[in-house]
Amino acid sequence: MIVKTASFLVSNSYYQNCPSPEKPEYAFIGRSNVGKSSLINKMTGVNGLAKTSGKPGKTQLINHFIINDEWFLVDLPGYGYANIPIKIRNKWETMISGYLQTRVNLMTTFILLDIRHSPQKIDINFIENMAENQLPFALVFTKADKLSKRKLEENVKAYQDYLKESWEELPTLFISSSETGLGSEEILNYIEQTNLLFAK
Ligand code: GTP
Ligand code: MG
Repeated sequence: MIVKTASFLVSNSYYQNCPSPEKPEYAFIGRSNVGKSSLINKMTGVNGLAKTSGKPGKTQLINHFIINDEWFLVDLPGYGYANIPIKIRNKWETMISGYLQTRVNLMTTFILLDIRHSPQKIDINFIENMAENQLPFALVFTKADKLSKRKLEENVKAYQDYLKESWEELPTLFISSSETGLGSEEILNYIEQTNLLFAK
């Protein structure tokens, strides 16, 4: 898919206020600092479209972007960031789980995982929660540029082996880098195909 237009639409703290669900939608979720906002910028080719930061906790709202006037891309706050007051963390969690569970046009949630790390409990819990709630998701390994090819392959395999211990079938999986652009085209093509399944 070619991204012809990409623009920011709206930010919300209440999922109830999100745009009318008349277009297919895709959300990016994952731990704080995993690279959600950076990947959105890389995929759309618009630097600064989604706000990024070296410090975790940058994205704090449900941010809607409209792509090609055809589908919504959503940047969500990260989970697992310990350095924020518990009250705010609870608010984010309620906001995110409310959004994920009620958004009828949500075709796929991309769960981003930093490929440098071995499987983390918080990510596994999140993935299992999505599966239990029968919410469609795909996995995206991020920051591939930070590893050698060999180490990258090793880590991807280790993650797959871990998932295979409890899953018969592995979820759709992408490997990405916002530095090199690796994975962007594959994710966009996946979205293009999935858009065809959207029932208006
Ligand atoms: P929150 O909004 O805080 O939840 O973070 P986020 O997941 O949106 O992460 P963000 O895109 O803001 O990126 C966090 C940091 O990681 C920034 O310093 C980015 O430059 C860096 N980063 C993101 N993706 C990549 C990548 O693919 N490669 C490298 N080398 N750095 C990356
Ligand atoms: Mg962000």
